[in-house]
Order: sequence, then structure tokens, then C-alpha cells
Amino acid sequence: MKSILLATGNPGKCREIRRVLGDLPVKIVTLADAGPIDEPVEDGETFADNARAKATYYAAAAGMWALADDSGLAVDALDGAPGVRSARFAADRCAPDADRNTIDAANNARLLEDLRDVPDELRTARFVCCLALADHTNILAEVCGVIEGRIGHEPHGTNGFGYDPLFFVPELGCTTADLPPDRKNAISHRGQAVRQFKAILADLLATAP
Ligand code: IMP
Repeated sequence: MKSILLATGNPGKCREIRRVLGDLPVKIVTLADAGPIDEPVEDGETFADNARAKATYYAAAAGMWALADDSGLAVDALDGAPGVRSARFAADRCAPDADRNTIDAANNARLLEDLRDVPDELRTARFVCCLALADHTNILAEVCGVIEGRIGHEPHGTNGFGYDPLFFVPELGCTTADLPPDRKNAISHRGQAVRQFKAILADLLATAP
């Protein structure tokens, strides 16, 4: 059976991707299983650039197909920030060894501060997720998913991770942190991207040597 390295150290993303790909005839290998690989520099200007660069880097380092994800939040009133800096938006406010919950809380606090004077109708934002699959030389597949929403005024909900407690989905009347994992997956940027990717991967697996 073909193996694919899931090239993300973020447990929230790993869970969401595995849940969708779980029934394909492919062995999902995590970074923890793959042994020590140095992290690549993430300096692309777009989510798609970063996903491609990470997939190629990890495929070459691990010697197997690698699936990389780059995702984040783009807020219109902040000209698309935090964007590709979503994970590190408030890095300068955290200790170098801060854990993921502390970093998420600092990122959310900064986002609320930056939007303090912005009225509801201008708090539009989207989560974007780009996925790239590479072997050691080529990009084999690329997809992106998007979900539109609005940034709330205070955190709400306990599910998900990252900016979920501030990401209000008007059609549902709740944040993505209010949704159980399956409901978030059904509508989220990552869920959409992974479902598109799943169809492409199924074809690739059927024809791969
Ligand atoms: P990456 O690991 O460089 O792709 O950074 C992605 C960052 O964007 C995460 O650390 C979160 O802060 C944010 N993000 C991406 N997807 C989601 C999501 O589904 N919910 C909440 N925050 C997300």
C-alpha cells in the first residue's frame, strides 16, 4: 500500500485531514512516525506557495509522497492579515517555548485588538486552506478551500483550534468553535480542500505504480 507523509505538526489539522482520507487505500504517516526531519522555512507570499514548498521539501526528505497544508485567516479590514502569518501573528507576545493554546489565545487577543474599532459589517474574513501533494520532484496535486465568515467581538465555543472561537459563520449563527468536528469538517476550508483532494488522490492511487 502507498504511504503518504502528512506533513503537518498541528494535531488539529492532522485530525481533520485523517478523518476524511481514512477510508482510502493509503497508509497515512505522521511527522512523528517519520523520524527527525528539520522544519522547512515558510516564507511564501501565499498559502499555495507555502503548501507547495513544504510538500516538495518533505517528500524529498522522507522519500515518500508528502501532503502539506498551508492555511490561515484573511481579514478584509486588515488587508488580508494575518494571512500567511496566521500561526505567528502574536509571536512577539509569547515566550519562545509557549504551547499551542497560549499562542492561539495571544493570536486571538491581538486580532480583537486590531479590530477594536471596526464595525460588524466590515469584520468580514475567510479561512483559506491550500493542500499540495508532491513526490521528490513534482507537485502531483494542488487544491484550495475557502469558508467566508466574520470576526466576532469575543471568543465563543470550545471546539476546534486557532481562530475558531472568533470566526462567526453568519448562515449558521455560531462560530466554528461551536461546531462539533464533523459539522466543522462539512463546511470548513480544510474539509472542502481535503474532499477535493480525496477525489484526486483516489485517481492517483488507482494509477500509481
Ligand atoms: P500553518 O500551520 O502555517 O498553516 O498556520 C495555520 C494557522 O492558521 C493556525 O495556526 C491557526 O492559527 C490558523 N488556522 C488555520 N486553519 C484554522 C482553522 O480551521 N481554525 C482556526 N484557525 C485556523
